[in-house]
Amino acid sequence: MNYRHIYHAGNFADLAKHLVLVAVLRRLLEKDTPIAFLDTHAGAGLYELGRDEAARSGEAVLGIGKLHLNKAPPALQPLLSLVSQVNRGTWAPNAPPRRYPGSPKIAALLLRPQDRLVACELHPADSILLRKLFAEDSRATIHRMDGYQALKAYLPPKERRGLVLIDPPFEAPDEFDRLAAGLGRAVRKWPTGVFLAWYPQKEAAGVQAFLAKLAQHRIRKLLHVTFAVAAPSAERLSACGMLLVNPPWRVEGEIEPALNALVASLQAPGGCVGLEWLAGDATTGAATV
Ligand SMILES: C[S@@+](CC[C@H](N)C(=O)[O-])C[C@H]1O[C@@H](n2cnc3c(N)ncnc32)[C@H](O)[C@@H]1O
Repeated sequence: MNYRHIYHAGNFADLAKHLVLVAVLRRLLEKDTPIAFLDTHAGAGLYELGRDEAARSGEAVLGIGKLHLNKAPPALQPLLSLVSQVNRGTWAPNAPPRRYPGSPKIAALLLRPQDRLVACELHPADSILLRKLFAEDSRATIHRMDGYQALKAYLPPKERRGLVLIDPPFEAPDEFDRLAAGLGRAVRKWPTGVFLAWYPQKEAAGVQAFLAKLAQHRIRKLLHVTFAVAAPSAERLSACGMLLVNPPWRVEGEIEPALNALVASLQAPGGCVGLEWLAGDATTGAATV
């Protein structure tokens, strides 16, 4: 396992994924009843952007480094206020913040006392960091385990409401196959759950094959969101996709302006946002949230 998320924390793809994550979680939290959040590939949870790895990749500078709470459009504020919280007043304009929160931390900042967070991370060092980060949080359970096994072990959650984030590193050549199979199987286990899966868009043929495999699972309500800062390239990540199963009613009306605001704020001339229903649509009724 070579992948470490510290190299990529706060890059454009993290921001796009986290804007969608925040929009979905906020909608799920509108009702008082508890939710469960399962993060199958959680990472370390909080990233120090001053560390060598982040500085060497330079990805955060081109991502979160271009944004600031006081200057960004309102559609970005829900995420940026969480980034601000983990920086406790130290985030200076025109520079990346010192810290950037990962998906489990972002969720934990939004979840209420009645909610539950389950986070899985396989990397030995990052799983230790994650465990330390949540040591005092009684809502959280951290497992050093395979995220796809977690889908088998922990679904459906006892709350019967909630969100599953599947955000693998795409190091292994068969990751697209594992993701399609894992997501399809998980939705069969929990047909009313909300799922968010992220993938990189590098080669069109690989993405098409992945979407075709996913279609075999006949998921009934599936929104495909794409985000690019430049045309997809095999060499360097410049575009990504997200699949949302059973998205909360009309959440796309929040996601689209947030991602458009992100493209504009990142000053990416070749950037674009796409939203397409692959199955079901906004008119077919709200998913059970
Ligand atoms: C893209 S990063 C996660 C980023 C995180 N979800 C976020 O948004 O902040 C993927 C993570 O999955 C971990 N990982 C790799 N294979 C895994 C597996 N089979 N099960 C669980 N975690 C795994 C990697 O160590 C890495 O930290």
